[in-house]
Amino acid sequence: MGRWPDFVQVKEVGPRDGLQNEKKRISTADKVQWINTLSESGVKEIEYSSFVHPKWVPALSDAHEVGKRINRNPDVRYSALVPNMKGLDLALEAGIDGASVFMSASETHNKKNINKSIDETYPVLEEVIKGAKEAGKHVTGYVSTVFDCPYEGRISPEQVLSVCDHLIESGVDDLSLGDTIGTAVPSQVDQLLLEILTRFPNEKIIMHFHDTRGMAIANIMRSMEHGLTRFDSAIGGLGGCPYAPGAAGNVATNDVLYLLNGLGIKTGMDEAKLQEAAMFIQSKLGKSLPSKSLAYAASQG
Ligand code: HMG
Ligand code: MG
Repeated sequence: MGRWPDFVQVKEVGPRDGLQNEKKRISTADKVQWINTLSESGVKEIEYSSFVHPKWVPALSDAHEVGKRINRNPDVRYSALVPNMKGLDLALEAGIDGASVFMSASETHNKKNINKSIDETYPVLEEVIKGAKEAGKHVTGYVSTVFDCPYEGRISPEQVLSVCDHLIESGVDDLSLGDTIGTAVPSQVDQLLLEILTRFPNEKIIMHFHDTRGMAIANIMRSMEHGLTRFDSAIGGLGGCPYAPGAAGNVATNDVLYLLNGLGIKTGMDEAKLQEAAMFIQSKLGKSLPSKSLAYAASQG
């Protein structure tokens, strides 16, 4: 049909977005073993942790040690969330290939998540972006709540564009647009992408769907129809933002891979290795993860 891309690049955010919302603590040794398994899955980027304040996200307070201990596969970009210069210094010391800066299109979510207004956030991120670029790192700019905010409701594409413009002008290499609480349906994806893609080239846009209402796969399909080829996902469907009530897991990497394989789209990823990684973290967390493909595969032994 020529409707689907030949290749899609998946960024694995499980070790960061996946664990940040989990009450059960995973030991540093288990994180390292898990990330090492993910590194062998063919995935091209792993967001391995977050250099935020440990009191704000205790589950990732060992980011520095994780960064120091993981095996580095030269084919994988290892990135981490970085909120400010203190985070950048620690991240550079621990070793990152990419820094992910983040803010929200919604004033209230931004304040709750990073304790600053949108206007107060720009200079902080400008400094981080400049510092990371000077250190030769790739920089992704996350924009959260691009469809709906748990505090403010519907967010207009104009609000999203304004934040995207600022981040691109500040020097980010690409943008990851977050459906933080997983409310969007494909018509909202159309509405936003029609605006976004008049401004920025397809290859600079990554979609980051949470799957709270089971719409993420439909939204990924719709994004691919707009020509997008880059998506964030978390193994097993882990994930959620502690400062966005109602944010369930990210779309599951296993489900995304099932879709892409079925459509004949190349990813370079190995389903069996991903399943091994998913089963490992599932057993460590002591609960079933939401991915349907994973549950089916597990039921087949
Ligand atoms: P703050 O309290 O406003 O920070 O927090 P501050 O600059 O006023 O500093 C206060 C103290 O914190 C100081 O220590 C700093 O040194 C220290 P003191 O001098 O009082 O002893 N501090 C730090 N310590 C360690 N690491 C740091 C750091 N920064 C300051 N990086 C801050 C501001 C941004 C740090 C805080 O609000 C924070 O850590 N927020 C993170 C929240 C978070 O991680 N949320 C989840 C990730 S975002 C997400 O999930 C959405 C996404 O997935 C996309 C989507 O789904 O939409 C990306
Ligand atoms: Mg997220």
